[in-house]
Amino acid sequence: MDNKHLEAALEQALTKPLTHLVNLEHPLDFNAYVHAGGYMGATKALKEFTPKEVLTIVSNSGLKGRGGAGFPTGMKWSCVPSLQENTAGHSINKLENSYLICNADEMEPGTFKDRHLLEGVPHQLIEAMIIASYTISANKAFIFLRGEYHLAAKRLQKAIDEAYENNWLGAKIQGSDYQLDLYLHTSAGRYICGEETALINALEGKRANPRAKPPFPQVSGLFGKPTVVNNVETLSNLPHILKHGSEWFKDLSPHSDPGTKMYAACGQVKKPGLWELPMGVTIRELLFEHAGGMPDGVQLKGLLPGGASTDFLTEQHLDTPMDFDSIGKAGSRLGTGGLIVLGDKHCPVAMVLNLLQFFAQESCGWCTPCRDGTAWAVEILTRIEQGKGTNADLKQLEELCDFMWLGKTHCALAPGAVEPLKSAMRYFKADFEQHIEQGCCSYQKAKGELTTSEEQLAKEQRKGEHHDCAK
Ligand SMILES: Cc1cc2nc3c(=O)[nH]c(=O)nc-3n(C[C@H](O)[C@H](O)[C@H](O)COP(=O)(O)O)c2cc1C
Repeated sequence: MDNKHLEAALEQALTKPLTHLVNLEHPLDFNAYVHAGGYMGATKALKEFTPKEVLTIVSNSGLKGRGGAGFPTGMKWSCVPSLQENTAGHSINKLENSYLICNADEMEPGTFKDRHLLEGVPHQLIEAMIIASYTISANKAFIFLRGEYHLAAKRLQKAIDEAYENNWLGAKIQGSDYQLDLYLHTSAGRYICGEETALINALEGKRANPRAKPPFPQVSGLFGKPTVVNNVETLSNLPHILKHGSEWFKDLSPHSDPGTKMYAACGQVKKPGLWELPMGVTIRELLFEHAGGMPDGVQLKGLLPGGASTDFLTEQHLDTPMDFDSIGKAGSRLGTGGLIVLGDKHCPVAMVLNLLQFFAQESCGWCTPCRDGTAWAVEILTRIEQGKGTNADLKQLEELCDFMWLGKTHCALAPGAVEPLKSAMRYFKADFEQHIEQGCCSYQKAKGELTTSEEQLAKEQRKGEHHDCAK
């Protein structure tokens, strides 16, 4: 980055902390990152604060996890035994058996925010992991990286090597008593590996099935030791919170959830992309100002606000701020903040079928509601989409949604699959009913995608019970 570009980047340091140093073509090497103010957050943490003080700063900032669930980061860390009251006197080197894992598995459809940070500013994550590891007294940390992220793997490994060469990793970091080793682990590549306990099993060399909780990983995680799993974006906030303080972080957003957020938009939009914006930008602003709105001639039908495993929202929700609380009150989840937009020329049944096919393929098979429920939903949705469904199928789908819900499964994969399905059946009920009543998909029909033989077959299957789309 030349001086002109660096100056421009630094001007955005206080408003776009996560991305102001992103350079996708030539990410900053160690010296350039330091020159741009990098490793100042970690320096402050190690030289000015005890782990407990860092915990207080992070808790006060109100940072919530960006991996999907929005769990408060400080609260998660405070469950680690080394940060409990009765271990206050422990020296950090005696507690070497806790671990930090950065969840960089990122396989949620419609989500590509972590990749941007991993490829564009790898040293930021390493600095963040030093801060987090120091706080939870971990001497070993892991980046669990999606296997297909080859470029990120190459750049991260280079940055890790540079951090070792410059005494930011290894023994006696920057003259302190603190030691940290950081390992890059590439995933074998399943969506379930992103679920934190399945991830831990995978890292231990076991089959990636989720574990029953409790115990939570903060108490018993990797190799049975206290383990914190945090998302890439969550961690990447830490250097900036340490550098500028909790109040600055809170002031970044006018809403109750502080900080900035990496928002994305894909699907039926003019300009798919990724933007770092203050937490709580409205759906309307994200969709129409940043993503350029709907393609010409297309109206908004619905959208998933935070990746594939969130509930549909519709036009009535356009003025909802995209923060955890507001999207929750609107009946969905902020999830990963990646909008997937459905236009009125595309079939919602087909979209949900496509998503369920993904979830069914990615189910680890460990629990019955997920293994059988997702496959069953695919079977029924396929029937409905092909115009061969019945009203009994709709009833069955509703029952399936209940069968796959939270509390009945080992992890949140199946409940996540239910979210778009159940909400589609609520908001787009007429479309489901149309497929059944008319024996075909009117969207395919309008596009001329339904061939005569398919129409004929659909008609025959329905034994003349209903009218077809041509009427
Ligand atoms: C099926 C499934 C896949 C997940 N994939 C990811 C992922 O790729 N990245 C991620 O950070 N969190 C993922 N999560 C959430 C993690 O289990 C965990 O909550 C998160 O890493 C915690 O980090 P945070 O507190 O910083 O948000 C997934 C959860 C489920 C149920």
